[in-house]
Amino acid sequence: MNTQRISAVPPMIDRYGRIIDYLRISVTDRCNLRCVYCMPAEGVEWKPHGDMLSFEEILRLCGIMAGMGIRKVKVTGGEPLVRKGVAGFIAKLKTIPGIEQVTITTNGILLEEFFDEAAADGAGRPVDGVNISLDTLDPERFSRLTRTASDAFVRGQGLPAILRALDRAQTLGIPVKLNCVPLRGFNETDLAGIAALARNVNRAVRFIELMPLGSAGSLEPIPGAEVAAMLEQAYGKLIPYTGRLGNGPAEYYSLPDFAGKIGFINAVSEGFCETCNRLRLSSGGILKPCLSSDTGKDLRALLRGGAPDADLAAAVAELVAQKPPSHNFSAVYERERTNHVSGMYHIGG
Ligand code: 5AD
Ligand code: SF4
Repeated sequence: MNTQRISAVPPMIDRYGRIIDYLRISVTDRCNLRCVYCMPAEGVEWKPHGDMLSFEEILRLCGIMAGMGIRKVKVTGGEPLVRKGVAGFIAKLKTIPGIEQVTITTNGILLEEFFDEAAADGAGRPVDGVNISLDTLDPERFSRLTRTASDAFVRGQGLPAILRALDRAQTLGIPVKLNCVPLRGFNETDLAGIAALARNVNRAVRFIELMPLGSAGSLEPIPGAEVAAMLEQAYGKLIPYTGRLGNGPAEYYSLPDFAGKIGFINAVSEGFCETCNRLRLSSGGILKPCLSSDTGKDLRALLRGGAPDADLAAAVAELVAQKPPSHNFSAVYERERTNHVSGMYHIGG
């Protein structure tokens, strides 16, 4: 962690009194999986490399935003670890004055390699936390859910690699959060087993309610309340946890005899916008105020047009002033239906 503080910088506060100190950066829209709730099965058109911000461009923006009050950065995708050089990029992010925490969200397939690469570069603890998507513990269902049954993928090898990376993170002392999207007809029988990954080890398992983005529109979510009932039947009463855990919208619970916590992110049914602290930077350099926004600031155009830092900072401040009070997933759903825009991999999960 970079302990250097920029104490003179006042926090960035939006129109609704929310402190904006968290930036999610999508470093690529590409992915080595094709999860049913995130990407279409085929016909995904990747952004050309030249349209993506370079790491240098992202680092410059982060430096500017750290000077405005951003303190925590999450590196996402697509799958962030498929982008070449990401370990070195993350190491540099961690040195930006003011940035106190750098975490990643990954599907875990390349996580071991990332740890190896970072260790070779001498980074003891290469990230301050890692979120790993894990929706099933069964190799067949994993193939079906991630659409990796075809020969184009290394069949069945994904899951063991993820589980090994989970152990490595534990050994390295890196806090882990597992993300699971409960889907009717796909993984209901896995949910209790995935929750059990927080039984003996102090890691969080979070159940994320399906959001109607992209190809997810035709899938059936299992509501958080139903998952909770399932877990209570298996493990006993869920006790609300009032302590602070993470930067996000999850509500956490303890279970009897569990070392870790169980989280629920019920984005659609309960809304989580009142305490939203984040901005999102897409891989193409659009800064967005909300997951559901179709508008944003084209920072790439400014960067490549030779804008000085002050102009970039002004664009960020203007965007923060436009941050909406809450998401509007029904509008998103409608828009995606008509425009065929995609899922989480495009927005940055
Ligand atoms: N609804 C809910 N969660 C989703 N994710 C990706 N797409 C969706 C969706 N449509 C999850 C992934 C990842 C996290 C960042 O977002 O499982 O863990
Ligand atoms: Fe890839 Fe994550 Fe989307 Fe799955 S959810 S396809 S792992 S970006």
